[in-house]
Amino acid sequence: MKFNIAKHGGVVAQLVYEDKIEGEYLSYLKEKELFSGKVEEVYYNLDADLKARIFIGLGKEEEIDLEVLRKAFFKAAAELLKNKIPEVELNIPKLNKLCNYKMASAIAEGMLHASYQYDKFKSDRKELPELTVNYNPEKGKEDKAEKGINEAVKLMEAVFLTRDLVNQPPNVIYPETLAQIAKEKLEAKGVKVTIHNKKEIEDLKMEAFLNVARASTKEPKLIVMEYYNNPDSDEKIALVGKGLTYDSGGYAIKTATGMVTMFTDMGGSGTVIGAMHALADLKAKVNVVAVVASCENMISGDGYRNGDIIGSMSGKTIEIINTDAEGRLTLADAVYYATNNLGATKLIDLATLTGACVAAFGEQVSGAVTNNDDFFAELLKANERAGEIVWQMPNIEYYRKMNESKVADLKNTGGKFGGMMTAGLFVGSFLAKEDIPWIHIDIAGTAYISEDYGYLKEKATGALVKSLYYMLSKEA
Ligand code: BES
Ligand code: MN
Ligand code: ZN
Repeated sequence: MKFNIAKHGGVVAQLVYEDKIEGEYLSYLKEKELFSGKVEEVYYNLDADLKARIFIGLGKEEEIDLEVLRKAFFKAAAELLKNKIPEVELNIPKLNKLCNYKMASAIAEGMLHASYQYDKFKSDRKELPELTVNYNPEKGKEDKAEKGINEAVKLMEAVFLTRDLVNQPPNVIYPETLAQIAKEKLEAKGVKVTIHNKKEIEDLKMEAFLNVARASTKEPKLIVMEYYNNPDSDEKIALVGKGLTYDSGGYAIKTATGMVTMFTDMGGSGTVIGAMHALADLKAKVNVVAVVASCENMISGDGYRNGDIIGSMSGKTIEIINTDAEGRLTLADAVYYATNNLGATKLIDLATLTGACVAAFGEQVSGAVTNNDDFFAELLKANERAGEIVWQMPNIEYYRKMNESKVADLKNTGGKFGGMMTAGLFVGSFLAKEDIPWIHIDIAGTAYISEDYGYLKEKATGALVKSLYYMLSKEA
């Protein structure tokens, strides 16, 4: 898909409000129940004189917002691609109170969502047809529109990178290849990427991480990505992503069906790699470091066991109750490393961490715990801009106590209650200083979805790449 600004040509799209159906043709379509201007409704036809037209429903004028635009233009682009229309002209007037930059960004984003497909491993895959979008904003707003479109194009490139990483199978994406792709994609954008091998991870004494990795023949990798572009600030924000390229459960083995999609258990790392890509590509003024402790949770004669007591980089000891609660162990060392060794002043961790989160929220809402409501408010603002939802869960003593062990400093499961909170709070207890502003986001439901929803198609979503970009670039 290609975008031009202030250029004419192609099938002219007509934007239609549900509460403003005017003219003979639209009234006829409405009467025949072919098109009534509701959001996500699109009417495309080729007239007898071969003059094509497309109507795009925008719903009620006063209810229009960025999310409506994403949905409406996703459907429009899908229809155009389906009909192999090579060029479309979008004349975008002022829509309610929306600003031209955000409007252009949301429209382009919606359309770009229609252009993603994961068919790399299909022999009979077909390229999507090319579509050129001629975007005509209000007179004098061309620069704003251009900024919005450029932002959407780069953001979606990052989202698609995340989707590709999460979608691909575990025999293709494993710690070494994940690290290589991160290095290749991010260094091209000016991010410094360091890949630590097993020996270096041992020297760092990341005992929790190493125990999870132990049963796999694939070498674990600690991937460190640094992007510093704000010399005036002492702030250094860490993004830590869970990077389990496969989670079999270990000795606490999962069921066959429960295991099939566990190649998506590096969803958190996919998100942080995508977010770094977006931040660097769009030259955000921010200092960010991303850390991924990547490995596989497998089974072998040398695997860690339910019942082991292990150490961690922080020095805290951990009683292993369940080898399937592995994510928090890898995150514990990554979080400690980011805050102790790299000097992160704030931290956000993202992880496909618990089935409890999926049970509570489903596939369109991520769960969070935080130790700092002001920091969380920044995320909420970015979520609003991105059209993504993160819900805050309680961070209270009641849940923290559930992680206490009788024989070690902590245990790796909290018991039968509050699984989303205990998992998150376990991770937070490895901050080098407990007052470092921190947000944990559980994306177990949102990173990879089982059915289409709006402009998100089934499988990997790239959830929260956009929010993290908006939050850290302060573009929300
Ligand atoms: N990777 C899983 C969580 C998960 C579940 C992600 C479903 C995506 C979809 C995680 O490592 C896990 O196995 N968690 C256990 C923890 C339990 C043993 C305390 C869970 O949620 O069942
Ligand atoms: Mn697990
Ligand atoms: Zn896992």
